[in-house]
Amino acid sequence: MIGGERHLLSMADLDRDDIEQLMALTDSFVEVGERSIPKVPALRGKTIAWLFYEDSTRTRLSFETAAKRLSADTMNFSVSSSSVNKGESLRDTVETIAAMGVDGIVVRHSAAGAPHRVAEWVDASVINAGDGWHQHPTQSLLDLYTARQHFGDLDGKHVAIVGDIKHSRVARSNALAFATMGAEVTLVAPKTLLPAHLEGWPVKVTHDLDEVIDDLDICYLLRMQVERQTDAVVPSLREFHTEFGLDVRRADRLGGALIMHPGPMNRGVEIAGEVADRPNAVITEQVANGVSVRMAVLFLLLGSGLDIVDGKRVAA
Ligand code: CP
Repeated sequence: MIGGERHLLSMADLDRDDIEQLMALTDSFVEVGERSIPKVPALRGKTIAWLFYEDSTRTRLSFETAAKRLSADTMNFSVSSSSVNKGESLRDTVETIAAMGVDGIVVRHSAAGAPHRVAEWVDASVINAGDGWHQHPTQSLLDLYTARQHFGDLDGKHVAIVGDIKHSRVARSNALAFATMGAEVTLVAPKTLLPAHLEGWPVKVTHDLDEVIDDLDICYLLRMQVERQTDAVVPSLREFHTEFGLDVRRADRLGGALIMHPGPMNRGVEIAGEVADRPNAVITEQVANGVSVRMAVLFLLLGSGLDIVDGKRVAA
């Protein structure tokens, strides 16, 4: 269970204690990953299906690696070669997969709320691997874990989330995640790349990256989500880079602050190519931590009656 739920659908469902529990368990799976044979039998006999209706490199591969390290069986589903192309609905597809016997379903879909619907239709645990503009909770958890490796706790740390906030599920997840852990979050974007309404977001907002850059502990950059943009949102990518990109001059002003990015990056747009390779750019650390964090999530949701309290495994 995570946050008293058998699904992981949104960061809004997790409080600080839930996140602390996940971080503690992730520590133990990082240790597993460092062994010569990085595998444990924790989910032997469990079956997990991947239901990815949108492209993915990091999320899908790290979930697959996490499941294999936990000795789970996996059921691969590729939309491009499935009966979705013959018109089969999401519900019929999900119920077909569930009929074969699965314990967990990891869902990525372009529609906000799709994983919530899937959770209503099946008995299996459902994990949101990204739904439209809405949420990407495992991305947030791996980002928190990575930031905490560098800072310890995040109370009072200043995090700027920069770029295409409007179309970004990572922005929505991470604003909640970092604020829940006590950080101060500032969104940095032109008006055209901000949501129309920000009521309820635990954030400050600025349209000027140079106004906050000297004060940051974390500069979290977002890709232009061109696949979700329906209007022209910036005059040109070159102008966006000039005004909101992390170029060499701005990166120098960050000092040792962390540079984070969920990937995939567009070098030369939101981040200068050279900046992405600096020692304080922890983008590959984020990717590596994704495996251990997703092991923790799978273990808590699908594991056999164990829970984690104060970093120790106890009967749930
Ligand atoms: N960060 C992230 O979700 O990357 P992928 O789209 O490659 O999974």
